[in-house]
Amino acid sequence: MVGGTMILLSQAGYSTSIPAGQRMHPVQGKEGMVVTSHFLATQSARDVLKSGGNAIDAAVTAAFSLAVTQPRSGNIGGGGFMLISSEQKDEVVAIDYREKAPGRASADMFLDKDGNVDREIARFSHLAAGVPGTVAGLAMALEQYGTISLKEAMTPAIKIAAEGFIVTPRFSDGLKNKEKKLKKWNSSRKIFYKKDGSYYEPGDLFVQKDLAATLNRISQNGIKEFYEGKTAELLVAEMAKYGGLISMDDMKKYSPVFRAPVHGKYRGYDIYSMSPPSSGGVHVIQILNILEGYPISEYGHNSAKTIHLLAEAMKRAYADRSLYLGDEDFIKVPSKGLTSKKYAAFLREGINSEQVTSSITISPGKPLPYESEETTHFSIVDKFGNGVSNTYTINFSYGSGIVVEGAGFLLNNEMDDFSAKPGIPNAYGLIGGKANSIEPNKRMLSSMSPTIVKQDGKNFLVTGSPGGSRIITTTLQVIMNVIDHGLNMQSAVAAPRIHHQWLPDQLRIEEGLSQDTVKGLQNMGHKVKQKSSMGAIQSIMIRDGMMYGGADPRRSTALAAGL
Ligand code: GLY
Repeated sequence: MVGGTMILLSQAGYSTSIPAGQRMHPVQGKEGMVVTSHFLATQSARDVLKSGGNAIDAAVTAAFSLAVTQPRSGNIGGGGFMLISSEQKDEVVAIDYREKAPGRASADMFLDKDGNVDREIARFSHLAAGVPGTVAGLAMALEQYGTISLKEAMTPAIKIAAEGFIVTPRFSDGLKNKEKKLKKWNSSRKIFYKKDGSYYEPGDLFVQKDLAATLNRISQNGIKEFYEGKTAELLVAEMAKYGGLISMDDMKKYSPVFRAPVHGKYRGYDIYSMSPPSSGGVHVIQILNILEGYPISEYGHNSAKTIHLLAEAMKRAYADRSLYLGDEDFIKVPSKGLTSKKYAAFLREGINSEQVTSSITISPGKPLPYESEETTHFSIVDKFGNGVSNTYTINFSYGSGIVVEGAGFLLNNEMDDFSAKPGIPNAYGLIGGKANSIEPNKRMLSSMSPTIVKQDGKNFLVTGSPGGSRIITTTLQVIMNVIDHGLNMQSAVAAPRIHHQWLPDQLRIEEGLSQDTVKGLQNMGHKVKQKSSMGAIQSIMIRDGMMYGGADPRRSTALAAGL
């Protein structure tokens, strides 16, 4: 019934400042907007806004609710990034709550005796887990910018975990698809499958008692519970039993960090996005800078010419990613150089606007000088001028597949986001080197790109996406769909997307591009491959006092709700 009510809301929206005759319609609101990938989380967060809470209160509430309704991605065993924009204070801040390598981690920990990367260990063992940051990060956001208590923010999540929620087809399919990975561990099998090993089917009630107890302890005792209390003890015992590295000391020492977001300009709009240890913001801005030099709107939305230029710009940015990006607490990242207009102009000169440049002829550029001196996503705005863009993850769907015995949550497998060996691709085919090598207490490089676009000092677009290496390209295409092509928020998130990440040299497309367009791209030399959908970008646009929510149809449970 909850879902039914909300879905009705999302279809009906409010009255209309979207011109009649459009094919898709965003949800509209004047006092607040929430867009998450699960309708129950959207509802929890919307209730907070309705009772006078701000966007940060709603965000933390949504994040804990997603940790229950969407254990495959929203999860207290992982980490992420949150961007908070306050119009009143005229500031945009970023909270980095990315996982960290354990203190006993080492550069060659995933290499076998022949020096080859052991992918099974890097992705599906206890060694694959970084020290989780989500609980500390969310608490930090609430403490600094929220108005409700952690306990209040966690109440809906605890209720959903303890009383259960109705299984959707997506939830059921996810567990069926990952049966082999999850049933390998007794602790995971017990949570995600029935006693006789059979599946939770759509319409079944899914209750998570252990998770409810863990969340309840945190809500009673604060984050110390997660990092030093019984939850930490359960996690560390799990590590000790199976040869993982996370120690009590690692848990105690974990802390999230405030960072300045990266900032750039695109056609007069201010773009704020996540700084290292995410590569996301740097490359969203770098690619937009390159594309600013072309009359993209004239070339048309998803025309062969526009897609060609997008792909060429993406390739150059991902080549740079492989060399320069990593955790800035450990290495110098030339963010200013990479996001400068001058460097973009230099890269643009190397682009042939009619013909492909093969990826083997592209290598990382020289954005020098260095400065002496950056999954599931949700977007929320409130009536006080706050916007929150949050992306967090446990890496793969269901992370490592390992539930912490007795604690009811999955461990991330974020250690695979490090470069286990220079030049050897990770799970997303991303190449890395020294900048992103494994070091104790270092944060692994991410592609997460929570982004806030401002216009004349006002929040204009709040956006971001899951999708591994596709996060960056998904995010920037939605920004361009709005700014260059004038699409409304719903059309902008739904439109077919493309992706190129330099290596492999392949232009990946979603369904929905015409055969003519594909032919045109092939004639320019692109190796075009249609694959499954990319990203799930939950976005909000604010214009003339009206808030427009666009839930990505690529997630059947996603929902935008305004008030
Ligand atoms: N785990 C995917 C990312 O952070 O980019």
